[in-house]
Amino acid sequence: MPIFINESLRQFHLQTKESSYIFCVLKNGQLGHLYYGKKVNHRENFSHLFQLPNEPIGNATFLYKGDQTFSLEVIKQEYPAYGTTDFREPAFHIWHENGSRITRFVFQSYKVIKGKPRLEGLPATYVDNENDVTTLMITLYDEISRVELQLQYSVFEHESVITRSARLTNDGHHPIVIERILSAVVDYPDAQFEMIHLDGAWIRERHITSRVLKKGVQFIDSKRGTSSSQHNPFFALKRIDATEHIGDVYGFSLVYSGNFIAGVEVDHYDVARAFIGINPFDFRWILHSKESFQTPEVVMVYSSAGLNGMSQTYHRLYASHLVRGPWRHRPRPVLINNWEATYFQFHEEKLLAIAESAKELGVELFVLDDGWFEGRNDDTTSLGDWVVDRNKIPSGLSELVKRINEKGLQFGIWIEPEMISEKSRLYERHPDWVLKAPNCSTISHGRNQYILDLTRQDVRDYLYHTISHLLEHANIAYVKWDMNRNMTEIGSSLLEASKQGEVAHRYILGLYELLERLTNTFPHVLFESCASGGNRFDPGMLYYMPQSWASDNTDAFERVKIQYGTTLVYPISSIGAHVSAVPNHQTGRVTPLKTRWHVAMFGAFGYELDPAALSEQEKQQVKKQISFFKKYRTLLQYGTFYRLMSPFEGTDAAWMVVSEDKREAIVAFYRFVAKPNPSFMRLHLKGLHPSLKYEVMIDDQTKVLYGDELMHIGLFLPPFYMGTVKTKETVMMGDYVSCLAVLKAIE
Ligand code: GLA
Repeated sequence: MPIFINESLRQFHLQTKESSYIFCVLKNGQLGHLYYGKKVNHRENFSHLFQLPNEPIGNATFLYKGDQTFSLEVIKQEYPAYGTTDFREPAFHIWHENGSRITRFVFQSYKVIKGKPRLEGLPATYVDNENDVTTLMITLYDEISRVELQLQYSVFEHESVITRSARLTNDGHHPIVIERILSAVVDYPDAQFEMIHLDGAWIRERHITSRVLKKGVQFIDSKRGTSSSQHNPFFALKRIDATEHIGDVYGFSLVYSGNFIAGVEVDHYDVARAFIGINPFDFRWILHSKESFQTPEVVMVYSSAGLNGMSQTYHRLYASHLVRGPWRHRPRPVLINNWEATYFQFHEEKLLAIAESAKELGVELFVLDDGWFEGRNDDTTSLGDWVVDRNKIPSGLSELVKRINEKGLQFGIWIEPEMISEKSRLYERHPDWVLKAPNCSTISHGRNQYILDLTRQDVRDYLYHTISHLLEHANIAYVKWDMNRNMTEIGSSLLEASKQGEVAHRYILGLYELLERLTNTFPHVLFESCASGGNRFDPGMLYYMPQSWASDNTDAFERVKIQYGTTLVYPISSIGAHVSAVPNHQTGRVTPLKTRWHVAMFGAFGYELDPAALSEQEKQQVKKQISFFKKYRTLLQYGTFYRLMSPFEGTDAAWMVVSEDKREAIVAFYRFVAKPNPSFMRLHLKGLHPSLKYEVMIDDQTKVLYGDELMHIGLFLPPFYMGTVKTKETVMMGDYVSCLAVLKAIE
């Protein structure tokens, strides 16, 4: 049993394979936090973990008359309140009918449940077998305002994962206004951490940022209506001396696709308070009598095996307990996407030619990107109509799909359902369907387009029927669901003035509802989410769509950084990655085809180029690449992933995957800048079986080495590998070069 409860002392100990999380009920009825970290033995009494000074605390405020020690300012808490004696970042902020902002949540009861209840209207981790998780529900209640708070803790005993969320119910007669309601807060006894997060921008998403915690509040957030490429809804707290593979790391990943906040406050006692949830900025939710508000879930991972240990836990959890449907554990098809090959300028015959040569190369899925619907010759028009353009595709969509299917390829299509162009029939019919603040006569555009108001049921119904029609009338196996702008002038024409502060969150709830309906109706369609590349690469989208286009940047060098950062949280099977043409369209950089392939193969792999532009020799190379990928794709997409060298710390990078039985592994090494007369290069591998003998193959050279040699002495890399250089191909020479080692146990 992963949850121990001492009824009389009112203490709770949540225990996973590696971690312990302990809290209690304080004497004022609030929840006090006692410990989160490496697993400790259970004992009947954890009261000694609760510390108050013996002497009066200077310049503090106190809850009890005559007592100058019980101040929430010095007490670690589970779900802290603003307004009494704690002045740090609170978990919630509620306005009551009479103007009061004081809510005293007092412990009422608890319940332990096998399994994990669903979160109403929100994506969340789940289990097939309810023995895999145990949930503790704590109910707290404020007698005066009659508001109930339920805190949910789900313990994945075998995974060192605890998920948390909160649910507020208005049990009184008057509405209350929620101005802040986070998913979780965790108080640590000190602040000796680095905060690691994933930041960037369009075409340079999810780069790793690391900062030593400093006094004050440090946070990342999104006010863009999407989780954003500027900051991913995730951060980790890493002990200062922890590394990629050793030491304590705590991960916080929010299963949410909209505005979020995530940060840490370091107070005047050097105590760190971590917090994460919906961004309270521009959020104001009116909760009427008997209504409830559910926060998104935060997935907390503890690892004593450094950042990489944390990532592996997220990978396993998200691949098995977040991604759903038939694609959950399935290797993903090799695709070709026509976007960088043609942009908007194509004709049916060109598409068929691309498909035909792609098929010869071994591609399995043809994806028709933007530009296939009426009038869409650039990005100023037609979003919302979704009717095939007969000028470009004279035989119609279902006939084109048929012809592509006949060539032996599956067919996939790009749509951007959440958007509307001013130049569209939909806009002529429903200008009021645009997301727009009530007093705005003009609104800002992004990529010449507006956003549909997904808070409206009629808009969601329209989209459901339009997309269903598309998917029912042609044999479509894959959908790339795009979303190409951030939200501005947020408002809805259907909501009353007092509810306009709910729109950003209601939009995300509407999106989730629409995706739930569509993915239930079309469970076999493989959905890939996209938002100008990685502007909404988050666990919320992953719940509905098993893979996500990582970035519009397909440059191999940039991609190593983007994909490396992305693997902090997200599994390889979820990271859309394509080989594109050179000079690269985003950077102008020329990298070898081999390097582009070595990077993209660690992902949901495909090509985004015109095969007709490839030379005969390149075609032969691509054929080999695809057949290699097919042979190893389960290992590449679902193996255990190790980051070996960070592209953020130098001009080399390396990573590897190992099969579950440790009998197979693939290692990739990338060198971005040539080093003349370089030093010997030994790469210390990870995760192998120490006493297994592996045949190590780099290009066509092989060597047999023990697992322990490879991990502790290291793998010698070309040009020094075995000292013999057969062809120019095997030499690591020039910029942006890479090599791949394939390991197979031979006994
Ligand atoms: C976005 C996507 C691209 C492509 C274009 C089409 O930018 O990220 O991959 O689909 O839209 O307009």
